[in-house]
Amino acid sequence: MEASDALPLTVPLTALDAYACWELDRRCFAGYETYDLATFRLLLDSPDSVSYKSLDAGRRMAGFLIGLVDRDASLGRGRGRLLGSGHIIAVGVAPEARRQGHARRLLSVAEQGFRRRGITIIHLEVHATNDAACRLYIGAGYSVTQRLTRYYADGDDALKMVKSLLSGLPERVPPRLA
Ligand SMILES: CC(C)(COP(=O)(O)OP(=O)(O)OC[C@H]1O[C@@H](n2cnc3c(N)ncnc32)[C@H](O)[C@@H]1OP(=O)(O)O)[C@@H](O)C(=O)NCCC(=O)NCCS
Repeated sequence: MEASDALPLTVPLTALDAYACWELDRRCFAGYETYDLATFRLLLDSPDSVSYKSLDAGRRMAGFLIGLVDRDASLGRGRGRLLGSGHIIAVGVAPEARRQGHARRLLSVAEQGFRRRGITIIHLEVHATNDAACRLYIGAGYSVTQRLTRYYADGDDALKMVKSLLSGLPERVPPRLA
């Protein structure tokens, strides 16, 4: 078997997945603030959505990632200028499917999706006490830039993390050989 055959199958999410995503989100974030179904519909219906699901061997949704291309909100509804940054809003993997690489794969595929949209930096917020998620993001190349005190409704702090997508590029174009 090729190594790539072992990767979880990851496909784009659409608004048709909103209900399944909402259900999985409630299982993933039991005890935490969760999004309602209407919010999932809005997010997945957005032209700025860069969102994927990861499937298990039976082709059921084992995990999801919701991402959005950022726009300059000050320009008014529907007229925003693209800012070159993308936001990872949520990542969740079903409890029974964890530690199988679903989230790592989702992050990698989302990164490719953001690159295709011209995005050069991705940012996210994560509960400061969420050790599993912090390790996931650090391992995927994200860096902590800020602690956001009492960011969440439950009073918990968040860590702001970012990843530049430019790091793979040479800093200077090498001089042309004569
Ligand atoms: C955080 C979460 C998304 C990880 O999903 P996952 O599919 O199990 O993660 P992966 O298998 O891709 O793991 C990738 C890496 O993340 C880290 N990681 C994941 N779960 C971990 C855990 N329970 N403890 C420590 N490190 C963990 C590890 O570095 C892991 O690499 P390794 O398995 O080679 O050690 C999942 O636990 C989850 O859905 N949690 C509840 C929702 C949540 O917290 N979402 C993120 C905040 S938005």
